[in-house]
Amino acid sequence: MIISNNKLNSPIGFVDSGVGGLTVLDNVRKILPNENFLYYGDTIHTPYGDKSKEQLLEYSDNIFKFFEKQGCKAVVMACNTTSSTIYDEIKDKYNFEIYPIVQSAAKILSELPIKRLGIFATRGTVLSGAYPREIARYNPDMKVFGQYCPDWVRIIENDLVYIEESIKIVENDLKKMLENEPEKIVLGCTHYPFLLDVLSKFAPKDLFIDPAIEFARFIKSDLAAKGLLNNSNTVGNGKFYVSANPQLFKNSAKMFCELEELPELLTFQNSSKTILVS
Ligand code: DGL
Repeated sequence: MIISNNKLNSPIGFVDSGVGGLTVLDNVRKILPNENFLYYGDTIHTPYGDKSKEQLLEYSDNIFKFFEKQGCKAVVMACNTTSSTIYDEIKDKYNFEIYPIVQSAAKILSELPIKRLGIFATRGTVLSGAYPREIARYNPDMKVFGQYCPDWVRIIENDLVYIEESIKIVENDLKKMLENEPEKIVLGCTHYPFLLDVLSKFAPKDLFIDPAIEFARFIKSDLAAKGLLNNSNTVGNGKFYVSANPQLFKNSAKMFCELEELPELLTFQNSSKTILVS
């Protein structure tokens, strides 16, 4: 198959409920600096971790159709919650390859030389059982403990990482997790690496694993295998979109990405209001 240069220059789409996916984008840009990209932070619907499957399907469909219109050659599901809950349903629906973080990271995690693995994630990810299920496909002997942290995404999205109250919340959640005696703890929500400094006040930094690092390597090797890597020598261009609060996104993003401009506000007409699942 001959793939045109146009296609190779096409952007890679990144999507998350907010700034969390920037932890993935950051790792991808380090090893694929020439790729063009579009980033969509669905900040009007954040947090995704409390939403129903139907809501996540609706939000994602709007965003993925937008990526299709923009001619994206691939889309990175930089969100553990949607990877865990809706990826299987939408994986063949669009005209590009979709890379889901959980499924891509699980194999690497299953190969860790340990017996007890903790997973910090959103409620949606933990209740889906996706991490233990995917890891057990490769290593059924690994004991996987999922714990959700209801306040963490709110803390990060609102740029409250270093205030005393947030630090106390993180310390308490970590204490609870440590009762399981995990040998490693996965930051199984793309927002959570924003808290690595705070977590490291209470436990060794190398206890924590950010799956985005391996995920980025996987994306690179898969794009290469499919002949889809951008072959230009210039640094890629990127554009950021959000569905609400561009200024807050820019402020909260700065730990992983200094935005020169405000992201563009982009909403979809048929998008329903945020409803929490009880
Ligand atoms: N960062 C996303 C994840 O990895 C979503 C977090 C949320 O909005 O609850 O799950």
